[in-house]
Amino acid sequence: MLAIAVVPQGLEVEASNELVALGAQGVRPLRRSVAFEADLSCFYRLHLFARLPFRLLRQVASFQCDGPKSLYRGIQSALDWERWLHPSMSFRVDVSGHSDALTHSHFTALQVKNALVDLQRNIWSDRSHIDLKKPDMCFHLHLNQSGAVLSLDGSGGSLHRRGYRAAMGLAPLKENLAAGLIRITGWDGKVPLVDPLCGSGTLLIEAVGAFMGLAPGVRRSFSFENWYDFDPVLWDKEKQRANTINQSSNRKKLPLIIGCEQKINIAKQAQANIEAAGLQNIIKIKNSNFHDLVLPNQPGFIVCNPPYGKRIGVDQNLQLLYKELGDFIKKNASGWQLWLLNGNQELSSSLGMKAARRYPISNGGIDCRWLQYQIY
Ligand SMILES: C[S@@+](CC[C@H](N)C(=O)[O-])C[C@H]1O[C@@H](n2cnc3c(N)ncnc32)[C@H](O)[C@@H]1O
Repeated sequence: MLAIAVVPQGLEVEASNELVALGAQGVRPLRRSVAFEADLSCFYRLHLFARLPFRLLRQVASFQCDGPKSLYRGIQSALDWERWLHPSMSFRVDVSGHSDALTHSHFTALQVKNALVDLQRNIWSDRSHIDLKKPDMCFHLHLNQSGAVLSLDGSGGSLHRRGYRAAMGLAPLKENLAAGLIRITGWDGKVPLVDPLCGSGTLLIEAVGAFMGLAPGVRRSFSFENWYDFDPVLWDKEKQRANTINQSSNRKKLPLIIGCEQKINIAKQAQANIEAAGLQNIIKIKNSNFHDLVLPNQPGFIVCNPPYGKRIGVDQNLQLLYKELGDFIKKNASGWQLWLLNGNQELSSSLGMKAARRYPISNGGIDCRWLQYQIY
């Protein structure tokens, strides 16, 4: 099948590498997405193991579409709907892109919905309910000037929700973004990893999970389990393999992994998340100001996303925080490397250090940089 992984902007190449490693074929990075080919087993496996995508879409039809009428007809003949969409199943339609004739996503989605429920009424004299939150089937229509592509969203809810993070601190990173940032660092599990402003612990949990090869998707369900051609035997096989890997993973040895958080409630949340992820023997959380953090002797990686205000000039306290972080690192982290996610260049210059590399990353629509510093 042809498929698309929807990924955070800036992580397209890393996401492509991840998909290749998990067995996807014909992988091509696009903008905010990656095109690939997979058989059903691989598609299921990607839902269990891939850490970077928001969602995985299976393309089922592409057709010429020059306006509402051809969209309506194209949708009705896109699939054998008698098999795929019984009125007892709820659905939702998502739309991306546009064309000259179809400029409003909401109108386009309504047109897709009308095509489907009209067809259902003709067949069954009944129709599906629309469920925007937890539908049985989720359709994705992508429009461009040359036509339309209809896909089935296999994920249901976004894949960044792993199920370990009931508790969230201030401005938490999405889990898939955190996983992608860690992949860029190249941390290989051989040297210590420290997040001095760890919030709910997302960067550390994702780093350790990826290093151990844990399957983040084993605790949740997916939309593809409702599909007409869902294969429970293949799915059980992939899921069992993922469970076995997750259960045997604790044997891997890791150096010190430390998170530091000054707010007691948030530090407790980080601890709860780490326990929910089953990593309490590996990641240690200290409830203190990072000034009081004692780094391990062996140099390693410091990763963090300190708070960043959006309006330059009003962030006096944040400028002080960045200056103090820079001073702490220069004094205590000789031989380490620092990776810092920043959305405000004014603030990162308060660190008083020069970045060796900068990766543009979109964090929920905010244009950020993932900055690497070598500490001498
Ligand atoms: C943007 S949040 C980090 C979010 C985190 N990456 C996550 O995914 O949850 C920044 C965190 O730094 C903490 N913080 C701010 N100043 C600190 C300091 N001096 N020492 C330790 N933690 C601090 C804040 O309480 C906040 O939880």
